[in-house]
Amino acid sequence: MKNYDVKDLKLADAGRNRIDWAEMDMPVLRQIRKDFAKRKPLKGIRVAACLHVTSETGNLMRTLKAGGASVLLCASNPLSTQDDVAASLVKHEGIATYAIKDEDHETYYRHIAASIAFKPHVTMDDGADVVGQLLMLALDRAKDAAPAVQAWWKKQNEKSRRQTIEGVIGGCEETTTGVIRLKAMEAEGVLRFPIVAINDAYTKHLFDNLYGTGQSTLDGVLRATNRLLAGSTVVVAGYGNCGRGCAQRARGGGAHVIVTEVDPLRALQATMDGFQVMPIKEASKHGDLFITVTGDISVIRPEHFRLMKDGAIVCNSGHFNVELDIVGLRKMSKPGRTVRGFVEEFTIKETGRRVYILADGRLVNLSAAEGHPAQVMDMSFANQALCTEYIVKNAAKLEKKVYGVPANIDSHISAMKLKAMGVKIDVLTPEQKKYLASWDMGT
Ligand code: NAI
Repeated sequence: MKNYDVKDLKLADAGRNRIDWAEMDMPVLRQIRKDFAKRKPLKGIRVAACLHVTSETGNLMRTLKAGGASVLLCASNPLSTQDDVAASLVKHEGIATYAIKDEDHETYYRHIAASIAFKPHVTMDDGADVVGQLLMLALDRAKDAAPAVQAWWKKQNEKSRRQTIEGVIGGCEETTTGVIRLKAMEAEGVLRFPIVAINDAYTKHLFDNLYGTGQSTLDGVLRATNRLLAGSTVVVAGYGNCGRGCAQRARGGGAHVIVTEVDPLRALQATMDGFQVMPIKEASKHGDLFITVTGDISVIRPEHFRLMKDGAIVCNSGHFNVELDIVGLRKMSKPGRTVRGFVEEFTIKETGRRVYILADGRLVNLSAAEGHPAQVMDMSFANQALCTEYIVKNAAKLEKKVYGVPANIDSHISAMKLKAMGVKIDVLTPEQKKYLASWDMGT
């Protein structure tokens, strides 16, 4: 039986070129791959990865395989797949890949079902979709699982079901939104195995979320619209690391940037970073471009769309496509029309003004551009690879909880990255070490 579902295997050579191109900027992952190939720490382990299928992810898959793992990869978002990369992973790397750009909802979950049917020992999610579906099955709530997952589950006998649920020894989670969901599972007492929150590593969120999301979100907007940033007003909703990155890059492009927040501390940071902060209702009147990166739901709603200027562009870079109330926008508008790739025009009946939604409200950086550059994914995926090994070694000792990335892994990755970049730093002298550990030495 075919153990993949990709758009077209003829794209494989182009995909390999892209994976190789990304690899050049992933020196830390390259080194881990070399080491994995020697030690094979993942021998006999099945990893089901549900990640954005990009050239950087291709390099993570190569690394896990070099470590001895059998790997299955499916998409963590229906719009973010690079079809040539998916084809190359099947044809050149022998990795069971289930991902087609712009797949429909049914196909998306059929692919997730394939990853569950793989009976993984380790899950690797970006948004907790695989763990979420597995949990529904484990909790006897199969009727709440996606229809494709239910259909597979119905065909399994008791033994297969038990193996599926009990076979998982742990998982890794890539993103903020996934970590929030997994912590909610832990709080409810329903988490079935330990998870390492990759997002919580300093070498992940301080680089990937900040510089990666910042640059690639603007890249997605510019590729989709070809609008000039300079002189425009950009509204960024949410001032976590992702929002901060978007705000910084928009300012760097010459835009006037407004930030909206619900957290006083983050709002204060944005203010002191020199951005104007105001409620979204007020900001709605001013923005030429709106970017949501909150991880929250219905951040921009009909009452906000109604106030926007003619030609306002609205997009999302948060994990799920729930930050913009597009259903509400459709109701208040004439039928939408696609005016360019990833750009849908809505004319609001009441005002006659036009609002443009990018990439159907899905992650604009991965839909209309290529996601984060390899330089930052190098560190994110180094965390994924080393934490997979950590789980395999330590699963028996870990509780059914969400753990941070062990500090030694995090600092090892920053040291490797600095070395690869040719940056040297000072080391503490014995006197300095003693001083920093003391409390009685003053002036
Ligand atoms: P975070 O949780 O650190 O920051 C989110 C901020 O949004 C918080 O400061 C929160 O107070 C604020 N917020 C929540 N509701 C709001 C509302 N209604 N209006 C205004 N602000 C609101 O999260 P982080 O790490 O910045 O990630 C944000 C989202 O982006 C998450 O969904 C995450 O999974 C996703 N993400 C996307 C990436 C991409 O490639 N596009 C990469 C990494 C993360």
